[in-house]
Amino acid sequence: MLHFTKQRIRLFQKRSIKINQIHLKIVPILIIIITFIIAGSIILITNSVKSSRANDKNPHRSLVNYKSKKDSPFIEGCADISALKQDDLRANATFVILARNNELKDVLSSMESLERHFNQWFQYPYVFLNNVEFDENFQKIVKNNTNAKVEFGLIPSNHWKFENEDSWEFKESVEIQGDQGIMYGPLKNYHSMCRFYSGFFHKHELVRKYKWYWRVEPDVKFFCDLTYDPFLEMEKHGKKYGFTIMIKELWETVPNLFRLTNGFIKEQGLKKKSSWDLFVENINNKFIYNRGDFDSRYGNLQNEDEISDRFLELLKIQDLLKKTKKFNGQNDDSKLPNDEIKELITKASTTKKLPKLKGEEINGERYNLYHFWSNFEIARVDLWDNPIYDEYFQYLERTGGFYKERWGDAPIHSLALGFLLNLEEIHYFRDIGYQHTTIAHCPSNSLKNQLIYKQSDNFQFPNKKQDKFWENYDSPKSYGVGCRCKCPSGHKDIEDSDNDFLQKWFELNSDGYHKPRPININRIERLVRKTYRNGQFDR
Ligand SMILES: *[C@@H]1O[C@H](CO)[C@@H](O)[C@H](O)[C@H]1NC(C)=O
Ligand SMILES: *[C@@H]1O[C@H](CO)[C@@H](O)[C@H](O)[C@H]1NC(C)=O
Repeated sequence: MLHFTKQRIRLFQKRSIKINQIHLKIVPILIIIITFIIAGSIILITNSVKSSRANDKNPHRSLVNYKSKKDSPFIEGCADISALKQDDLRANATFVILARNNELKDVLSSMESLERHFNQWFQYPYVFLNNVEFDENFQKIVKNNTNAKVEFGLIPSNHWKFENEDSWEFKESVEIQGDQGIMYGPLKNYHSMCRFYSGFFHKHELVRKYKWYWRVEPDVKFFCDLTYDPFLEMEKHGKKYGFTIMIKELWETVPNLFRLTNGFIKEQGLKKKSSWDLFVENINNKFIYNRGDFDSRYGNLQNEDEISDRFLELLKIQDLLKKTKKFNGQNDDSKLPNDEIKELITKASTTKKLPKLKGEEINGERYNLYHFWSNFEIARVDLWDNPIYDEYFQYLERTGGFYKERWGDAPIHSLALGFLLNLEEIHYFRDIGYQHTTIAHCPSNSLKNQLIYKQSDNFQFPNKKQDKFWENYDSPKSYGVGCRCKCPSGHKDIEDSDNDFLQKWFELNSDGYHKPRPININRIERLVRKTYRNGQFDR
């Protein structure tokens, strides 16, 4: 950069020397022509900026073909499932479902969807976890709804209950969150659930004996057929964490989480991985040129070159101002060279010294509140079951934030990924249509490989009625990736929401993306001053 800036400054100076040499009469004509050209371009640029802004306001990310070297859909359309045999290689993987006895109906609806769209072919086992024993009815009916192996586990009491949950402090903390209107804040069980998924599910003996897990919630829906093995594909591509929806957290639920996570990283001397950038706004990359009437004129300076140029311009203006004052003695405006210079001088005289460029700063970064929505996760168990993550969880636990605030396991997992994984190790399952509560992602179908649905031979659930419903899937699109997806009618995809989280994901993953370096204003100022001074002596 240093070298580059010097070159630019020299160029700038050379250019102005040359202009001195051009015969003065040509200058007014040139100015008129240039003015027309500039005015024309400004009109063109303004219009194109306007139209691209209009698009930003109503983004259609779901129409974007998403592929890059770092991450792409594993396959487009359907794999040929008829080639798959029961005794073919399976991954060392399981579904994990945390549920209560009274959630049987919702559990069955999730299972029905999962079996219909995926597990009828693959027969991955289920692990059900609960903080009380599952009753016999629950176990019997669940088992009757899959051919796969099912295990039921009890959560150790200290993995569910807070040590101090009978204390005055605990009760008050949780209660206050109700008064503050924090979503799920006053629900003790919700705090327990978030803490359990943050720190303990991966420690359960039934989960720990697997290498991979797929987290499933009661009452979720899948919209597409998944005809390949997601665990084996992840393994093959060096992926450790997979998601299908990314959303923004409510700030009130995690006011201190980002600060504490930064503290932990510093304390442990950890290095942030490239996925960290997904979750932060780099305040340093945006500077407001904040000096009274200069504001409207220059607006945001976005990069080092713009900033160098602006400093240089100001140095020249100040120089000019000094010389003119000397020349005119009494600073008599009527004797100034021409109107343009007059204007520059008026501008310069309002600037006593070079403006300071400021950015609001919290370590130069701010949590943008985005996170992978962790009610769906396909990931390696040892991503969490390892000493570094253990230490992180213990650190968070000691702060009491699991009850003093209402930390979700989603932002905790996501921020932890920031020091655990590089972008390349995370996979966007764009081809998995998924709904939880009212939020849904449902992709378009791929033009390629829309193979005909074939029921698994030894598959007895769900019934034919289901198959009838899924028979008429959506028409394929050139940008589609899905296999036999049927999206809910009037579906508005979360990819197209106003939040720009996926934008960031696409951008950081795109080929040829370069991380902008933090801008050091003081260094630029020093450099420009020095080079400018040297340039003056050169002449
Ligand atoms: C479920 O129970 C019915 C009888 O009630 C039985 O015919 C069927 O085979 C069972 N299904 C499974 C998958 O165990
Ligand atoms: C499955 O993975 C776990 C954890 O990595 C390992 O301990 C276990 O031996 C594996 N089981 C098989 C059958 O490979």
